[in-house]
Amino acid sequence: MNDAQPSPRRVYGRRRGRPLRQGRRLLTESFLPQLAVTLPQKGALDPRTLFPTPSAVWLEIGFGAGEHLAAQAEQHPQTGFIGCEVFENGVARLVGEIARRELGNIRIFADDARLLLDCLKPDSIGRVFILFPDPWPKQRHHKRRLVAPATLDRLASVMQPGAELRLATDDRLYLALMLEHLTGHPDFLWTARTPADWRERTPDWPATRYEEKARAAGRMPAFLRFIRRAS
Ligand SMILES: C[S@@+](CC[C@H](N)C(=O)[O-])C[C@H]1O[C@@H](n2cnc3c(N)ncnc32)[C@H](O)[C@@H]1O
Repeated sequence: MNDAQPSPRRVYGRRRGRPLRQGRRLLTESFLPQLAVTLPQKGALDPRTLFPTPSAVWLEIGFGAGEHLAAQAEQHPQTGFIGCEVFENGVARLVGEIARRELGNIRIFADDARLLLDCLKPDSIGRVFILFPDPWPKQRHHKRRLVAPATLDRLASVMQPGAELRLATDDRLYLALMLEHLTGHPDFLWTARTPADWRERTPDWPATRYEEKARAAGRMPAFLRFIRRAS
């Protein structure tokens, strides 16, 4: 694990949208400091220390408006959840949802997920969700994609053996790339046996806004589940 400051990286997602409405801004200002994950100056972050007595810690990267994360947290009250999102309006929406549903098991990293991955203790995360990551379709933007070998290496390091990585996309080219990177990665095993295994979500996998947008536009999403192999 690195003892140094996290390396600065360029984030390509949207960080700011419309200015927050006053009520949402005030709610975010009062709740976010209690929920925010702060990276250690030195050493690794053990995510279990962020929660009172978690049975496991799960991570969602790019949670958008947070509807999937809030639903998972409600379904699994003993599990601690860390959500990463760079988009301010999405963070504010999730904060509102946490307050409304009185969810005590979510913490928020409102910055580039890769900075957190660089600091997390190895073998500390029990499940990871990356749902509809930005596909960056133009060739010159491909390097901006989140699902790339460097991120997968970091994920493999912080995920426990047997932990699940769930991915979704409605972009065919990104799907092909995800499969290429993940099936070629020594630490991940694809669980699909039949096409139904990746064409449909499992019942414990709530839909997200981007899935709804994709379906409304006639694009069929794919749902991928990989297991972190034991070393
Ligand atoms: C296409 S949206 C999908 C949102 C949500 N997962 C859904 O399915 O509705 C991708 C999200 O990932 C976020 N994002 C992109 N790069 C990120 C990064 N490096 N760290 C954290 N969030 C990121 C963006 O701000 C955006 O909200």
